[in-house]
Amino acid sequence: MHYWKNCAAGFTLLCGVISLPVMAEGNVADGQAKSASCAACHGATGKANNALYPNLAGQNAAYLALALHDYKKGGRSGGQAGIMQAFTSALSDQDISDLSAYYASQKP
Ligand code: HEC
Repeated sequence: MHYWKNCAAGFTLLCGVISLPVMAEGNVADGQAKSASCAACHGATGKANNALYPNLAGQNAAYLALALHDYKKGGRSGGQAGIMQAFTSALSDQDISDLSAYYASQKP
């Protein structure tokens, strides 16, 4: 899988154990800056302003990152997933880590 390439040789063992695409360290402040395009649906602090959209505040960062990677590569489909495919297609791995760190840091 492509994100395994991020692992330096010394971390190969660690990456083998933690097989989630969450290797890049997320930055909360950067995530907040990048969340402007998400706020319309998920709220400025991750509390959705429409009951049909999920709350993100306080969710586990690793889960958020996994979900965003899945939308991006089409692993989540059906339902409203098409909306999120559009919003994740341009996100880099670092964007995903930063956004996940930001929402995880917010009070639910
Ligand atoms: C137009 C509204 C809209 C925008 C803008 C939007 N989302 Fe979403 N988001 C949704 C909807 C609807 C879902 C539920 C999709 C489904 O059914 O899988 C969702 C799901 C998610 C999930 C999965 C939540 C879970 O509990 O599994 C994450 C994470 C997420 N969005 C993050 C983001 C981020 C980060 C952005 C900005 C880059 C963003 N969204 C922009 C509407 C939106």
